[in-house]
Amino acid sequence: MSKPVTAPDIRNHKVRDGHDPLVMVTAYDAPGARIADEAGVDLILVGDSVAMVVLGYEDTLQVTIDDLAHHTAAVARARPRPLVVGDLPWMSYHVSPQETVQNAAKLVRAGAGAVKLEGGEKRLPMIEAILDAEMPVMGHLGLTPQSIRAMGGFKVQAKAHQAALDLMSDAKALAQAGCFAIVLEGVPAEVAAMVTDAIDVPTIGIGAGPDCDGQVLVAHDLLGIEDRISPKFVRRYASMKDEMVGAMAHYVDDVRGRAFPSHDESYHLSDEVAETLGLYGRAG
Ligand code: KIV
Repeated sequence: MSKPVTAPDIRNHKVRDGHDPLVMVTAYDAPGARIADEAGVDLILVGDSVAMVVLGYEDTLQVTIDDLAHHTAAVARARPRPLVVGDLPWMSYHVSPQETVQNAAKLVRAGAGAVKLEGGEKRLPMIEAILDAEMPVMGHLGLTPQSIRAMGGFKVQAKAHQAALDLMSDAKALAQAGCFAIVLEGVPAEVAAMVTDAIDVPTIGIGAGPDCDGQVLVAHDLLGIEDRISPKFVRRYASMKDEMVGAMAHYVDDVRGRAFPSHDESYHLSDEVAETLGLYGRAG
């Protein structure tokens, strides 16, 4: 078995230096982690998107650090080779550096090899505190879903001149502080390319065009398990929900039509025991 991916393995992974783009997907449980691992991804994000794609909430603001630790532990139990990144949810890194470190440690103790948090320069004290406690940090800039109330919805960011420069300055600050990689979400491709060029740690894009050092998608989106919303940046590689509904409907038909279970799918008594129970001729 090849050796697990670590944050230091990722830190220098720039496409401009000849590396292939990094591949990250989300997973929230052990089967999801095994699928991602067998598919050959580099990083697994136990994202706070679990709130929307698994737990049925309308946004990511409803999940807690204990929810994320629970799902991170489930992913880590699969012992995947990709680096497991645990997502710090809203309000787990907004109060104080001390509380932030304790929350990051919950994800690392659950099995994460690194943590991710959203936001730019104003999060530097929290980022520095986590790094100081020896835990690798991934940044997340642009459309940061934990800020949807402040942003007024899921809107593409950094479209105006000054906003693009602000994003650049945030990215430089995060890289300078020691983040080993930065997610760029929902920003124009040209801005993502400019940021990717300007920093020495990899950018991982989602809705940020082709010029990042890697890409991330929510597994349920790319597999077509989640089919209610279809943002422009999602490419569906399968229609798993349709296939699952079809398979389950087939099961429903088989049970109602008495076609399941068959003789071979049932356990049976020996002839001798069947006879002692008076079940003549009914043993398998
Ligand atoms: O929670 C998540 O899935 C994320 C990705 C969309 C980057 O943060």
